[in-house]
Amino acid sequence: MSRPKLQIALDHNDLEQALADVFQVGDIVDIIEIGTILCLQEGRKAISCIRSMFPRKTIVADTKCADAGGTVAKNVTDAGADFMTVICCATLPTMEAAQKEVKALQVELYGDWTYEQAAEWRRIGIQQVIYHQSRDALLSGETWGERDLTKVKKLIEMGFAVSVTGGLNVETLKLFAGIEVETFIAGRGISSADDPAKAANDFKQEMIRIWGE
Ligand code: 5RP
Repeated sequence: MSRPKLQIALDHNDLEQALADVFQVGDIVDIIEIGTILCLQEGRKAISCIRSMFPRKTIVADTKCADAGGTVAKNVTDAGADFMTVICCATLPTMEAAQKEVKALQVELYGDWTYEQAAEWRRIGIQQVIYHQSRDALLSGETWGERDLTKVKKLIEMGFAVSVTGGLNVETLKLFAGIEVETFIAGRGISSADDPAKAANDFKQEMIRIWGE
């Protein structure tokens, strides 16, 4: 079983702070995400600045796009992103249009979605989904548990590369031992740490301990 990748989600309100953090952790993580908050605040400039800083890194634009998939996807690709996200309630035509413009399209699983919908995403060629505990769900007291693990495993069985995110910290990772998670996405668990580089290394070391090199 290969080691999951580590993705930093830059959910900053301003580009300056995002750049300060990514400068520290960009070489440690495998993937850099321009988070939804930063996309809304600084969009294209954030993607293009970070692409200039890290020319060979995989960059995700977490647009959580719901419509105009082709246009949004072309714009983020032109700015330097490799992957882009769409929300799971977007229509299949939105997803298909976006897919044509990006290296990979990721479906963000929030709220209500069904395995029947997921089968349709597979049918149109989508290979990546993001299993998400929303900030608001976590704030209202939800935690990671068996129900989440069952869904993640089922999505992997369906052939998806599954990323996992939402309030992750180093301690959460061991819950997923034995599961072939593609990528763990951490935002505040890295950016809000006193030492973001140490926090990113701690995530990575724990992933190596659980899944091996
Ligand atoms: C919010 C997101 C976040 O980028 C993702 O959940 C990671 O953030 P955190 O680890 O701080 O919860 O997609 O919509």
